[in-house]
Amino acid sequence: MGFSQDGVDFAASDGAREQVDFLIIGAGIAGLRAAIQLAEAGTVLVITKEELAESNTAYAQGGIAVAMGGDEDVALHLEDTVAAGDGLVNREAAAVLVEQGPKRVQELLTWGTDFDREHGELMLTREAAHSRNRILHAQGDATGREIALSLLRHVRQIPAIRIMEWTTGIDLLTEGGRIVGATLLDGEGGLLTVYADAVLIASGGAGQVYSDTTNPAVTTGDGIAMAYRAGAAVSDMEFYQFHPTAFSAPGAPRFLLSEALRGEGAYLVNAAGERFMHRYHPLLELAPRDVVARAITHEGMDGPVYLDMRHVQKDLRQRFPGISSFLAQHHLDLNRDLIPVRPAAHYLMGGIRTDVHGRTSLPGLYAAGEAACTGVHGANRLASNSLLEGLVFGAAAADAMIADHTVPVPHKVQLTSVPSPNGSTHDASIERWIQELRDVMWKYAGLLRDAAGLEAAERAIAALGATMPRGLSRRAIEAHNLHTIASTIVASAIGRRESRGAHFRNDFPRKDAEARHSILQNGTLSFTQ
Ligand code: SIN
Repeated sequence: MGFSQDGVDFAASDGAREQVDFLIIGAGIAGLRAAIQLAEAGTVLVITKEELAESNTAYAQGGIAVAMGGDEDVALHLEDTVAAGDGLVNREAAAVLVEQGPKRVQELLTWGTDFDREHGELMLTREAAHSRNRILHAQGDATGREIALSLLRHVRQIPAIRIMEWTTGIDLLTEGGRIVGATLLDGEGGLLTVYADAVLIASGGAGQVYSDTTNPAVTTGDGIAMAYRAGAAVSDMEFYQFHPTAFSAPGAPRFLLSEALRGEGAYLVNAAGERFMHRYHPLLELAPRDVVARAITHEGMDGPVYLDMRHVQKDLRQRFPGISSFLAQHHLDLNRDLIPVRPAAHYLMGGIRTDVHGRTSLPGLYAAGEAACTGVHGANRLASNSLLEGLVFGAAAADAMIADHTVPVPHKVQLTSVPSPNGSTHDASIERWIQELRDVMWKYAGLLRDAAGLEAAERAIAALGATMPRGLSRRAIEAHNLHTIASTIVASAIGRRESRGAHFRNDFPRKDAEARHSILQNGTLSFTQ
């Protein structure tokens, strides 16, 4: 693919062109929520790599955390969010999240999102590190899918929004330091250039950079990688959240076993059948996610670790239909069996650095949702705050894009990197290359880190860079993006010589007195409060 870092005159390149007011890369909760708002001010094009329903949003099981009970409730949600983030939460962003959350969820209800109810009242469950029940859920454990589908139904009624499925972002277009659009690869392998007055990255996280992840295959960090290559600052990339309880059986997918299981009373037991969380945290199974994930890793050195719900007097197939149907394929039943679990990469707290309005370090470029880093999650995200983040900051970014929407359309632009249509690598070799990268990341930049391992990862990533898959195919683009993401995670993890939240260094097990965010831009790492 020849992704050179030198710009070229894109006027010489092939492919169709078009102009929209707003381009959104990604059709999860943040992208769709933004599109609804942006359509009031102009034309909107939303691109997504697969069919619309296939976003990380749709895989969210547990629910959406929201304080619907007034000021006191909102204040408690803020405190829980700040406490889970281990000293690094940007309080301004967290306040925006919890204060605007109820309004944004109310909109969802108006648009037909069907959250579970009992006797007509919304049902609320609890998850780790929440001081009270505040998690709305839908169809038991299909909350993300219900929200995504209701947003889609709404979006489809708005003529100003066009959606292109099976379309992959290649790179952002810049002119004079401003982002003015993007090059895209359509489903037939054709090149398309879209000029836009503002581009929103809402392409989610990058769980596929690790060999073990709860995330679907589409989560290859594309938007973050595109923004970084274009010169945008990324922040806190070392903070990758590992979900404690992904299904663990040889050859089986790392299916998410929602934290709501523990919210409904599940115990964690070790190979000896003993509960162990009392040795790690006073909140036991409902301790912050990073603490539980490390505890399971530790206990798992002596044999398998299980979720145990055999004592829960409830029909769990009814409460967790999706999880139960997955487990049934493995001849397991929540009410009857111990369920083997171990951690897997789940959520990126870091991402494209933005303010609370989604503005990045580059004019014309905005980001929201998991692809963005407002600092709202600090070093460890509070369970079920991610769907809320997509809603709240998707809408906030759209407001900023509309407010900034005054720039004339440029005619001559630069690519940040150069996709060459020549030369393609056989798919099997791309898959091998990607798997090697993912294995390196899991081994050296996973839950437990140290300088020697991270430096080994750095060398391995550099060596993989020399054999980067070539050719203008979606998979080659994803390989390139995963490489960019891996490099930024490892560089940031090497620089953070402390342990905080999801970033644990065996060689620096303590937390620094001062909490600082990492910033990586054009290969230079710095830290700031
Ligand atoms: C879960 O259901 O455990 C995942 C929800 C989240 O990541 O917040």
